[in-house]
Amino acid sequence: MTTTNIPGTDTTGDAANAAGPSTAADGTAAEAAGALMGRLFGAALGAAELFTVYLGEVHGIYRAIDEAGPITASELAERTGLDHRYLVEWLQSQAISGLLTIDGSDVWTDRFDLAPGVRVALLEPTSPVYAGGLAAIVPAVGRSFPQVVAAFKSGAGVPYAAYGEEAVAAQEMLNRPAYVNSLAAEWIPNVPGLHDLLTKGARVADLGTGAGWSAIELAKAYPAVHVDGYDNDEDSITRARRNAAEQGVADRVGFEVRDITEVLAGGTQYDLITFFECVHDFAHPVEALVAARTALAPGGRVLVMDERADEQLQAPGDEVQRFLAAASTIWCTPQGRVDEDSDIVGAIMRPHQLRHLAEHAGFTKVDVLPIDHPFWRFYELTP
Ligand SMILES: C[S@@+](CC[C@H](N)C(=O)[O-])C[C@H]1O[C@@H](n2cnc3c(N)ncnc32)[C@H](O)[C@@H]1O
Repeated sequence: MTTTNIPGTDTTGDAANAAGPSTAADGTAAEAAGALMGRLFGAALGAAELFTVYLGEVHGIYRAIDEAGPITASELAERTGLDHRYLVEWLQSQAISGLLTIDGSDVWTDRFDLAPGVRVALLEPTSPVYAGGLAAIVPAVGRSFPQVVAAFKSGAGVPYAAYGEEAVAAQEMLNRPAYVNSLAAEWIPNVPGLHDLLTKGARVADLGTGAGWSAIELAKAYPAVHVDGYDNDEDSITRARRNAAEQGVADRVGFEVRDITEVLAGGTQYDLITFFECVHDFAHPVEALVAARTALAPGGRVLVMDERADEQLQAPGDEVQRFLAAASTIWCTPQGRVDEDSDIVGAIMRPHQLRHLAEHAGFTKVDVLPIDHPFWRFYELTP
């Protein structure tokens, strides 16, 4: 008798026998299928929960609960102006998922509050454990996904803009905490001589700056530096300008919509050029690195932060590698292929690949810097 219809849980062997004589290979395959089903169920659960978290973020529901304290669905509807019936459903799902507490068992009348950890993880965008960006990824991918599906046949790229404003917001939310907490406090002190260079004053270019947080945090930490941030995405640069103004550094941090390959020699000569999590995204990475090399002042330095892809393929890989590889397939690679003759590397950019690109761009040396991070690896490129 089969104990359950979930693959891999048949302890009697009846299911395998029904299909013919069983072999050890059948048993192993059935167990593997069962394990995979369990794993994919976990992934489906995670994706569904991320959508509900995004609803809570985009409509300010977590914030409203935090401000009001324990609150009923009706009070919350009044406070937020959101539809009462949808709110009841959302509150119930959040309580079942453990993101909210409920002081009883009636979702229509009892009071909900934030569960421990939710305020820091979802309402404090500069906290080192801020997780709001993870939820913002799903609507961005959802928006672009029909184009990604079609692109697998046509070979076309899918522009960053097709992922919508949620994509830029997600990118900003994901990386800002690290720039706020680690860039000046931890990373720069680990690059020999860089702290002194920035302290005495330097002209910096931050290429592929996105919403500008790396440029802004550099300027905040080093009052004598001037940073030019460049990105070819208009929405990102609009946000970057607004962020710089809000942080009070707009006089020393400028942002321009520009393709990296246009930041060429003959313009400003930079003492430091930074690429934060973007070389792997570029349609033309060698040209971008050439642009950086030729825009350096004498003695100028180039810092690259990019994904911590394993040095060599490990299959299957760990969770970080799985995330990077999946993101590369649905996000980085389609975006980088918008140029027809794209040479995008994708998020699985291994150190030997960056060395190869840098060599072709005329750099003589690539050093991996002694900075530990679960997702990123840091390099210095020497002309
Ligand atoms: C993964 S995001 C990183 C953004 C930012 N550095 C951060 O850490 O949040 C990559 C960025 O590279 C930009 N980008 C891609 N290709 C570019 C190009 N050819 N010229 C300028 N920017 C480019 C994208 O618009 C995007 O903002």
